[in-house]
This record gives sequence, structure tokens and C-alpha cells, in this order.
Amino acid sequence: MCGIVAYIGSKQCQQLLLEGLKRLEYRGYDSAGMAVLDGSKITLARAVGKVSNLEDKLEETGGMRGTLGLAHTRWATHGGVTEANAHPHTDDRVGIALIHNGIIENYASLKTYLEEKGHVFKSQTDTEVLAMLIGELYEGDLEKAVQAALREVTGAYSIAVICEKEPDTLVVARKGSPLMLGIGNGEFIVGSDPSAIIAHTTQAVPLEDYTVAKVTRSGFRTSDIHDVPVTPKVMQLEMDLEQIELGSFGHFMQKEIFEQPKALRNTMRGRLDTREGRVVLGGVSKFDKELTKTRRVTLTGQGTALHAAMIGEYLLEDLAKIPAVAEYASEFRYRNPIVEDNTVVIAVSQSGETADTLAALREAKERGALAMGVVNVVGSSIARETDAGVYLRVGPEIGVASTKAFVGQVAVLSMLTIYLGRKRYLSADQCADLMREMELIPEKMERILESDARIRKVTERYIDRENWLFLGRGYNYPTALEGALKLKEISYIHAEGMPAAEMKHGPIALINDGMPAVFIANRGRQYDKVMSNIQEVKARGGRIIAVATEGDEQIKRLADEVLFVPDIAEPLSPMLTVVPLQLMAYHAAVLRGHDVDKPRNLAKSVTVE
Ligand code: M6R
Repeated sequence: MCGIVAYIGSKQCQQLLLEGLKRLEYRGYDSAGMAVLDGSKITLARAVGKVSNLEDKLEETGGMRGTLGLAHTRWATHGGVTEANAHPHTDDRVGIALIHNGIIENYASLKTYLEEKGHVFKSQTDTEVLAMLIGELYEGDLEKAVQAALREVTGAYSIAVICEKEPDTLVVARKGSPLMLGIGNGEFIVGSDPSAIIAHTTQAVPLEDYTVAKVTRSGFRTSDIHDVPVTPKVMQLEMDLEQIELGSFGHFMQKEIFEQPKALRNTMRGRLDTREGRVVLGGVSKFDKELTKTRRVTLTGQGTALHAAMIGEYLLEDLAKIPAVAEYASEFRYRNPIVEDNTVVIAVSQSGETADTLAALREAKERGALAMGVVNVVGSSIARETDAGVYLRVGPEIGVASTKAFVGQVAVLSMLTIYLGRKRYLSADQCADLMREMELIPEKMERILESDARIRKVTERYIDRENWLFLGRGYNYPTALEGALKLKEISYIHAEGMPAAEMKHGPIALINDGMPAVFIANRGRQYDKVMSNIQEVKARGGRIIAVATEGDEQIKRLADEVLFVPDIAEPLSPMLTVVPLQLMAYHAAVLRGHDVDKPRNLAKSVTVE
């Protein structure tokens, strides 16, 4: 979604802001803009499309000079993708420029009020309303004007504001949309995401909701919107530049698929005590008493995170014998859910900022659930608002298509299952067996990654087909959903995932000569049933691409293509079976000539409902 970067210090900031925008490109956007204040004048440039278009424009116009500035990538919500709607927006009286992530929900009534006061709007955005309102309320103090305006606003925002009358002041604020203030050496860099500031500093203050920061070249102060001082909490960013750079890979998605073995080792490091047959999870152990009494677990998330949550549901019921259900956060939030005593709600999210997941979590807390997070981004909103949690530790995920976060989520949910199961039905030996299997996964994954060239060849054979099916059963039904999501989101091929048995209840009508049907057919309790489903598709002319267990001779006779994965205990198998599907999706997108890391219409982190 939208991205923010802002700077105040002693350096000429145009280049620094452009670099920040480039690091935010992965979040998804459709236009970009920049405003720089040079002494007493703001220069502004905006462009539709890529950051490189903005860069070209700056070059053509001779660039911008100044050591205080803001820049933005916009993902359209209110108003189409036009230059006039791109940020920064300005007021029409004082000389204010503002960038904004989020949505001002009461913008229509505020706009009417401002129009009655004579303000003339040039865009269709909610953001311009906020810029005008700050201008309207300005009485010689930008910080105060921002506080006053935010008291009138409902909705979500993270903003950065400058004013021609105050060339030594940058004001930033946050509610419901992430923003952090990076503390450099005699300079401050603000970003909606650590990747925008990490090249300059690792010290940062993640702003809390309703916090306003007034930043000057010599320091900063934080307060709430009523001007009550807030004590800032400085944190150390754990990211390094190498993690957010491509290296020798073609795309971040490819890099992240190949990083999975290493990422999983990090996820498991220090958490598996095979000798004692127990999992060590520092972030949940202080709730042991409550967890022993758990009667029900609701897992929630969106997209890929929901698919991981669905695997969590199977794991918790099958192994830990705890009633569990996985549900879209967007549905849970609004359907008036019943939350009984001793319910644990687990919010699964890579970014920790997904608006629907955050809202579902708040709803569950409100209804008395113990809130747990399975999150990647340290210090993110969901991580901060949960009672307990386990970080994924897979490192920054830049590719819009989630890959390593998925396997990290499934690994954490597997560990949580063993943790909770040990308190109930699982013996120390059973736990130790599962953990030993987990420890072997990274190495087995490496073996699958070695077959990358073959997976590309297989994908190439079907690249012209516009409709694909992904079918699986049990633990690999969510994997089928994930395979279909990966393919559609980056290659724009229509793909449907479903339980293999469901196909007979309608979707079988779609099967025509040559239609690719990807079956996750590894060895497991429902192997024979999957074989029957394969026969049914084959009989109707479908082409079978099977993900199967190494050494399976039977499947070779049935399927048109077989992608083998090493043998593994069935409950843990999605962490392996998903890898060929990720690679197929990646190659399909590349073969079709798409921008893998910036798929159309998509954003990395969906911070609006
Ligand atoms: O950051 P989150 O894990 O909460 O994001 C949830 C979904 O938006 C995300 O998984 C999305 O579906 C990805 N594009 C899938 O690749």
C-alpha cells in the first residue's frame, strides 16, 4: 500500500528520498510524488506510474534543492490514478505540503465545511482535505495545527507535514497505519516501513497510535493529539541492508523462495528441545496457566496467512486435540462471533499491519479471548497488541507474493501445536519425534530447490493455459489454496484451489482437454482417495501435474508430470509440498513477462479494510 519517507537534516534530500521510495516500491503503488522545502519555498513534483517516472520528471525540471522533504508512493483509494490525486497535497493558504497513508473516513463532511470557508480543492482525495484543514487551523505553529486537525479526523492515518513558514520543522503522526522515526547522526528519517530508513540508521522510534512527533534538525518531541507529552521508545532495527537487496537473484520472490531453508532454521533455532521433548517459546510461556485451560482456538488472517492458519487448525485438532477453527479476519470481525471462556485467538500475519487481521484481533480481545500473534515484523501493530506471540524470524519479506513467511507461519503453528499438545495428549516421545522431523525440513527443502530448472520446464509446457486447478486433501487442502493464490496473483492466470473431493460437486464441469490440474498427492492418510480424484480428472482430458513423495512409482504411471518432494510426516508436509508450487508460480510469471515483485493492483501490506 502507500509508502512514506521524509527527511530533515543537513543533506540535500532529493536523492535520499528517491532511494527511500525505491525501497518502498515492493509495497505496491500506482503513483509517486515528492515535496522539498528550500528555505522558504516548497517545490513539488508528482507522477503517475513508477518511481522512475518521478525521477525522470525531476531530471527534466532540474531537480529540487533542500534539506527538508517528503516523498510518497500512492495506492489509490479515494479518486483515480492521476497526477492530481498523487501525494503530496497542499493547502491553499499557508504553504503546507502533506503525505498520508490510510483513509480519512469523515473527509466528506470536513470537505463541505472547508468549501464553505472558501477553500478550493484540486483533487478527489481524502488527503487533500487533511492538508486544507491543517492550513485552516494554522495559527503560527505547525505542530499545534496538526494536533488540532487530527482531533477532528476519524479513520486511519500516518502523515508527514511541512510548512513554508517553518523551514526547520517536520511534523509526523500516526493512528492505525505504521510510521517510524529513524534517528540518524544530526538527521532524522521517517518511514512507513524500516526498509525506507535502514540505509541511514538502525535506531528508530515506532510511533504509537495518536502520537504526533515534532522533528527539528536538533531533536524531536512526541505528544498525543491533545499535546500531552508521550515518552518515545527507541528500538534497534534488526534488519540489515543485505536482507533487503536482491543480490544475485532476479526477483525478491525468487530470493525469498531460495532463502526458505535458512529462514526455517532461524524460525526453529533455540525453540526445539528434542532431548526433553518440549518446545521452548519465550513469548507465550508466561501464559502457561491460561493456555492449559484452552477450550477453543480461533486462527485468523487473510490471504496466504489464512492458508497457514488453516493448516494450524488441522494441526491443533489432529495433534493437540484442541477444537480449532480458521477464519477470514474480515468475516470474524463483523459476524458477531461467539467467544467462549478460555478461547485463544491467534492472529497470523507477515506484516503485522493487515487492517482486517488487526481489527479481528481487537474484536476478539474485546470479547475476552487471549490474543496471540504469529507475526514476522517485530514491533508491528499486531505484535504490539497481542498478549502473547511467536515471531517468525524469517527476515524481511519484500516480494508481494508471500513465500518464506508462509513456511515460517506453518513452522510456528507446528511448534505451538507441539507446545500446547504436550500440555494435553502428546507424550514427550511423540513431541521429540515431530521435532526431529522438523529439524530435517530445511535440508529436504534444499533438495526440492535443486529441481528448480525442471520445475521451470514443466511450467513452460502449460504456460499458455488460462485456467488451472489446484487440488489437495487434509493438510494439503490449504496448500492447494496457496498454490492457486500464488499462481493467480503474479501470473494473472485464473486458478482455483479446493479440496480434491469438492471437484466432483461442480468444478469438474470446467475440465476440458489439456486443462492443467495440480494435485498435491504426497503420501498420507488420504493418498488412495487422491489417486481416485486424479483418475477422474484424467478421464475428462485434464493434464495431471502431481506433487508426490520421492519413490512413488504408482503416480508416475498416472500423472503427466511429477514433481517429487522428500518423504515427511504428513502434518508437516505442507512446508515441503508448497515449494514446487511457489516455483511454478514464479516461473509462470517470468515466462509471461510480468513484474513478479510488483504485481498489478496488489499491495504487500493491506492496511485498509
Ligand atoms: O501481512 P499479512 O500476512 O497479514 O498479509 C496477508 C495477505 O494480504 C497476504 O498474505 C497476501 O495474500 C499475499 N499477497 C499473498 O501472497
